[in-house]
Amino acid sequence: MSSLVSVEGVHVSYGEVAALRGISLSVTEGEIVGVIGPNGAGKTTLVETISGFHDYTGHVEYRGREVSGKAPSDLVASGLVHCTESRDLFDFLSVEDNLELGAYRHRDDVAERLDFVYDLFPTLAERADQTARTMSGGEQQMLAIGRALMGDPDVLILDEPTLGLAPVILQDISAGLDTIRETGVTVLLAEQNVTFTMNHADRVYLLENGAIEREGDPDALRGDEYIRTAYLGE
Ligand SMILES: Nc1ncnc2c1ncn2[C@@H]1O[C@H](COP(=O)(O)OP(=O)(O)OP(=O)(O)O)[C@@H](O)[C@H]1O
Ligand SMILES: [Mg+2]
Repeated sequence: MSSLVSVEGVHVSYGEVAALRGISLSVTEGEIVGVIGPNGAGKTTLVETISGFHDYTGHVEYRGREVSGKAPSDLVASGLVHCTESRDLFDFLSVEDNLELGAYRHRDDVAERLDFVYDLFPTLAERADQTARTMSGGEQQMLAIGRALMGDPDVLILDEPTLGLAPVILQDISAGLDTIRETGVTVLLAEQNVTFTMNHADRVYLLENGAIEREGDPDALRGDEYIRTAYLGE
């Protein structure tokens, strides 16, 4: 299995503030990789850097090619699709219009992809004509994930997909993620929700203050004293 995303010794700063301090991580085809960590740890900065949004030192490669200098839209075209923390929906467009815009590079199979997304999140099918901004937070999250899937990703980056969601919606997102994995999409999941991440990821990185403090499979991390006390409340 080849590494789709490879990050090595990466530093990113916002002016004087160092947000990533020597990060190394890899994502292999077919994996779900989790990045957990508290507020301000650098999770969003890390996934945005992989998507080509920040200058960095070190190496960030997608499919063996350095991301630096590539436009985020080119990365999307080559299969790296990012569902942002803020969701970035087109507020005044309908659910279906939002979804169709996610397929702007895949016009040939829009109907097929719409069917896939509507099967994944039936709520979206029921609300196809509803204006995005009038959807609930959970529905908007489904729409954001659905729109990303319309772009036919090879690697799907999800930044805090469970933030602020009620348990019942969390179950829908959880089931959606299981189906997404079955279709062979590789997922990089940035999350504060440690339990959710542990339940889905093959491997997890713990990010604190811009550095990776732990990495391993969920079972190994569940057995780690520090993770247990600081993150699992045991
Ligand atoms: N545009 C910016 N300008 C200056 N500092 C920033 C900027 N964006 C992020 N930071 C800082 O970089 C650090 C990492 O932020 P980041 O958003 O990557 O963390 P995070 O792990 O995603 O946090 P959260 O869980 O709250 O989303 C924080 O200290 C934050 O204040
Ligand atoms: Mg964040």
